[in-house]
Amino acid sequence: MGYKQSPTLIVAALLLLATATPLAYGQQTNNGILSARICCTSTGNCPPGSVGIPGVRASLNCTTLFGNVVTLAQGVTGANGVLNLGLNNILGVLGSLLSGILPCGVFVNLPLNSTICPILSTVDGVLVGIPKLVNTIVDPVLGLVRNITVPVFINTTIGR
Ligand SMILES: *[C@@H]1O[C@H](CO)[C@@H](O)[C@H](O)[C@H]1NC(C)=O
Ligand SMILES: *[C@@H]1O[C@H](CO)[C@@H](O)[C@H](O)[C@H]1NC(C)=O
Ligand SMILES: *[C@@H]1O[C@H](CO)[C@@H](O)[C@H](O)[C@H]1NC(C)=O
Ligand SMILES: *[C@@H]1O[C@H](CO)[C@@H](O)[C@H](O)[C@H]1NC(C)=O
Repeated sequence: MGYKQSPTLIVAALLLLATATPLAYGQQTNNGILSARICCTSTGNCPPGSVGIPGVRASLNCTTLFGNVVTLAQGVTGANGVLNLGLNNILGVLGSLLSGILPCGVFVNLPLNSTICPILSTVDGVLVGIPKLVNTIVDPVLGLVRNITVPVFINTTIGR
């Protein structure tokens, strides 16, 4: 597709896809909490003793079957390098996301600020993390939510 599609259309298409897909998990909810931690290492991962990077912008992007990239959520890491993204009322999309129908990832564009993380400040690239469903929990405010984590980031260098 060489033309630009409106985001509304894409989301509508996603919703159609999602509602046509039975959920693979017991309890159904349209809410989720995604958490990840990004540290100042060459891959962004956090082995014991590594230091979290605050102020890092990250996006949860998914690629639709039409090849369009949609950003489902965006956020910035906090003091300890922890990213928390609330995924509220994303009707059905989460179900597709987690059952692997839509390829989704948490993306961090490099380079980062050299003051904050020198080792990730010298390359053009992307840190890519694949979201993983841990469990479904009851949040006091949101009710039933999917607890999603990013177990590992991969450091990819582009333009080499
Ligand atoms: C993810 O989405 C953000 C915000 O829309 C964008 O800046 C970034 O380039 C995207 N990354 C990828 C790999 O699609
Ligand atoms: C990098 O971080 C330092 C310290 O927070 C800040 O003073 C500086 O403006 C930042 N540089 C860029 C290019 O954002
Ligand atoms: C990650 O980025 C660093 C530069 O900060 C580079 O030297 C290293 O080779 C990259 N690691 C991987 C696994 O791509
Ligand atoms: C959510 O998942 C994280 C990451 O695995 C885990 O540490 C945490 O305990 C889970 N939260 C609940 C309430 O189960």
